[in-house]
Amino acid sequence: MTISDSIRLLLDLEPAVAENLDRHLGVAKEWMPHEYVPWSLGRDFADLGGEAWAPEQSALSPVARTALEVNLLTEDNLPSYHREIERAFGRDGAWGTWVHRWTAEEARHAYCIRDYLLVTRGVDPDDLEQARMQVMQTGFDSEEKPILNVLTYVSFQELATRVSHRNTGKVAGDPIAEKLLTRVSTDENLHMVFYRNLATTALEIAPSATLRAITDEVVGFEMPGAVIPGFTRKAVQIAQAGIYDLRVHHDEVILPLLRQWGVFELEGLDAEGEKARTELADFVTGLDDQAVRFEEKRDRARARAADRAG
Ligand SMILES: [Fe+2]
Ligand SMILES: [Fe+2]
Repeated sequence: MTISDSIRLLLDLEPAVAENLDRHLGVAKEWMPHEYVPWSLGRDFADLGGEAWAPEQSALSPVARTALEVNLLTEDNLPSYHREIERAFGRDGAWGTWVHRWTAEEARHAYCIRDYLLVTRGVDPDDLEQARMQVMQTGFDSEEKPILNVLTYVSFQELATRVSHRNTGKVAGDPIAEKLLTRVSTDENLHMVFYRNLATTALEIAPSATLRAITDEVVGFEMPGAVIPGFTRKAVQIAQAGIYDLRVHHDEVILPLLRQWGVFELEGLDAEGEKARTELADFVTGLDDQAVRFEEKRDRARARAADRAG
């Protein structure tokens, strides 16, 4: 896609952006992050004469700790994401209003999760800070992704974040954490809806090019948290616990969006669009097979662990 094609597409999508921005502002409820944090549990750390952090102070299970840390570090990298979407969408008109509104909403997520983890002594605060420094210094670079790819990537990514916050809340074992993460995941859902609707409009304007972008983003999908130190190991723990695994990715993130966009019923594709659709269908089938194998392996490992325990 040339630069002039991208500019044309931004202009063609602008009315849909304005409409979806209005819709978003109408349904997004204001909420106060400080209302979700149990401040009375907080106390000083060592340098102020209090107690240094120790693992037994955390009421969270190890996997809940890992998942919360990964979710928080992902949210922490907001300056990079802001730069990427501002580069793709610009700062004019409804696009610019959205870019800033979205950034302001996202910033809340890191603040309240960090406050929660610090007052409850949920994670090692030194590790957390060192990891945050590392993640933000690495940044996030979408390598000049064209606008159609950005739109489709963020649709999947917002839905993936929604599901992982919600499922982290379920395993946290603390109603306060669950309430907080449910609140955050509601925001992520509205973000997903915004991007998803724009991708729907893009499919009407340029069906084959949009389908190509969807296929590329599904095939190459990587969580924004991939830059977190030890991400692969942490992602395995998170998958073992069923918070975010291949089954979740296929059933709750990829398929719902493909269905919503009606990609397999879409008419009027050119040869390139048809080729992209075939590639997409093959990939999704392969992903489902992988998910089945992953679940079988996990079931066997769980049965072995139960035997040993029993
Ligand atoms: Fe977020
Ligand atoms: Fe979001």
